[in-house]
Amino acid sequence: MALLSLQKVTKTFGGLVAVSDVSCEVSSDSVVGLIGPNGAGKTTVFNLITGSIRLTEGDIFFDGKSLKGLRPSRIVSLGIARTFQSIRLFQGLSVLDNVLSGCHCRMRSGLFSSLLHLPGQRREEKAVLERAMIELEFVGLAHLFRSAAGSLPYGDQRKLEIARALATDPRFLILDEPAGGMNEQETMTLREIMKAIRKRNITVMLIEHDMSFVMHVCDHLLVMENGQLIAQGAPQEIQKNPKVIEAYLGLEDDDE
Ligand SMILES: Nc1ncnc2c1ncn2[C@@H]1O[C@H](COP(=O)(O)OP(=O)(O)OP(=O)(O)O)[C@@H](O)[C@H]1O
Ligand SMILES: [Mg+2]
Repeated sequence: MALLSLQKVTKTFGGLVAVSDVSCEVSSDSVVGLIGPNGAGKTTVFNLITGSIRLTEGDIFFDGKSLKGLRPSRIVSLGIARTFQSIRLFQGLSVLDNVLSGCHCRMRSGLFSSLLHLPGQRREEKAVLERAMIELEFVGLAHLFRSAAGSLPYGDQRKLEIARALATDPRFLILDEPAGGMNEQETMTLREIMKAIRKRNITVMLIEHDMSFVMHVCDHLLVMENGQLIAQGAPQEIQKNPKVIEAYLGLEDDDE
């Protein structure tokens, strides 16, 4: 059964059609790659799913419920978490505080119990702290929890964003170019992290230009060009698809 379903999704920016009539599904427990040339509309699809921009036409369903008009924080609370193409961390804050910054919208205690330091609140804070450390351990950054996020190498900052997303306890994880800017060693480690995420039964949708990474990690690929979904299927089929080769795979290395 589809965990996420896009139905005739369109997004225009003024006269520009960034996403045009896209319909597709992501089934539970799969890792789906969204690929295509620069400017194809991939990130715009992610921004629509996570509610950071509004649909022009169409609808998006998560677990059978429409996400239309919901605020990003509400969408996180339904179990959808994301990372960003251009890293968005609080550079001056510690690694741990960055993970904690992702957790607050999943906390149940209100302002009242928080101000009074009620026992329930303290218990919840402890649980959140433990969860944050578990996720840092999961991505291999626990030993750096006191360091400023901005002092980490680029690859580790990407992993930190993943830890922050995981700490919100998502069922659906959206990664926008997780291997972007990583060296070969960092990309291999990321591949291991992706395997471990799959074992946790978290459904993943990711954008990536590194085709070797995509081929190793994804079970299904969606291909966009000029705002349209031009192909989808198993990675091995997509790699041979003449339309995809012409639109994207045959291009010179255009990685950013
Ligand atoms: N907020 C915005 N306002 C105006 N135009 C936008 C906005 N966001 C995206 N666009 C435009 O929509 C089109 C699709 O952009 P998008 O960022 O979704 O592409 P992409 O497939 O993620 O590309 P890349 O691989 O380079 O990240 C581009 O022409 C882009 O300039
Ligand atoms: Mg993008």
